[in-house]
Amino acid sequence: MESAFFGFEMPTRLLFGIGAVGNLGFEFSTHEWKSALIVTDEGVYRAGLTQPVESQLQDFGVRYEVYTGVVPNPTIASIESAVPMAQDKEVVIAVGGGSVMDSAKLVNAIRTYGGNVRDYEGTDTVPGMCKPLIAIPTTAGTGSEVTFISMFTDPERHQKMPVMSRYLAPHLAIVDPEMTRRLPPAATAQTGLDALTHAIEAIVDQQANPMSDVLAFEAIRLIFRYLPRAVKNGEDDMEARSAMAFSATIAGAAFNNSMVGLAHAMAHAIGGLYDLPHGLCCAIALPVAMHFNLEPRRQRFEQIASVIGFANTESEAVPMPGASVAGWFWDKTFTAEDSVLQVRQLMTEVDVPAHLIDVGISVSETDLDKLVELTLADGSILFNPVLPEPEQVRELLRHIATYTAD
Ligand SMILES: [Fe+2]
Repeated sequence: MESAFFGFEMPTRLLFGIGAVGNLGFEFSTHEWKSALIVTDEGVYRAGLTQPVESQLQDFGVRYEVYTGVVPNPTIASIESAVPMAQDKEVVIAVGGGSVMDSAKLVNAIRTYGGNVRDYEGTDTVPGMCKPLIAIPTTAGTGSEVTFISMFTDPERHQKMPVMSRYLAPHLAIVDPEMTRRLPPAATAQTGLDALTHAIEAIVDQQANPMSDVLAFEAIRLIFRYLPRAVKNGEDDMEARSAMAFSATIAGAAFNNSMVGLAHAMAHAIGGLYDLPHGLCCAIALPVAMHFNLEPRRQRFEQIASVIGFANTESEAVPMPGASVAGWFWDKTFTAEDSVLQVRQLMTEVDVPAHLIDVGISVSETDLDKLVELTLADGSILFNPVLPEPEQVRELLRHIATYTAD
């Protein structure tokens, strides 16, 4: 064990499984809650994903409104405009992906303690317990349903800012794989690779601990086994959807305790500057950050490569989630470098681009200056195994920006 002393927190109660949203009304009646604000975005709303939530509220006589104004990489204005609608409600329910859940956490903090979004920027800025918040993810990636973290975008600075507080954590996460059934292949792939980035960074960064390891290694095994199936045949393959939903939640619980690292620091910089999806930014940054971290964490990457190798060859008889940890072994035939190759192969298999130029973005020297500055200013980088020099970050970002031969 790397560390004999560690702490681990997951204050969020979890209801997991196909049909789990059907328990929402019972939760309201148990707590005698009579009103709710559903926080979501236009895409989720138009896809009909608030319908099962609304049906539950209607069946149990709950007065509710729906706020559909969350935007990708949520801005301060998009979050603050939901607050007046939340003021006279007992519960906030987030129905959506990371942007929606992150927004709802801040709406909930502001409706509880007042102020505005910028007042909460930083760590431990929420003074105490917040009013009830329920998170219902519609993607399998962010893990925000069980984390203390919310990211918002400051449009003036083109920068993604973190809010971190244990009091941001939802009181209840209802993770229902059915909510992800119709997620399109590209979004399935990108959000799944966000979860993979959480898991890999949770294992290699400075605060990794035995508890986060168990969750993160299992998430890696499941993602390699099931993400290609979820991308190729997500509407019919609920076993794959379930495994991905479970992976995202346990990877979220893992990195919520051990934190992320360089890949997320670069992903936040890129996402903030170019307004790109977080999962895509993570996917593009991950192999480059892994390569940078190989030397200080060689053993850890060998273990990651072994688990991926196991996932790629395990028999169908291996039970689905959570049960195979004891069956892992550290296979010395895998090298640390194999882990980077395996991640690149998975990205190719699920059709996610490897460089920014592949998504039509050419990075100017001025942009590169800004990206280096944003990466080094991002809090995630503090937990990376080693702190890169500005010139090293610049080089890594060059690799991310464009095709290179290596
Ligand atoms: Fe992430």
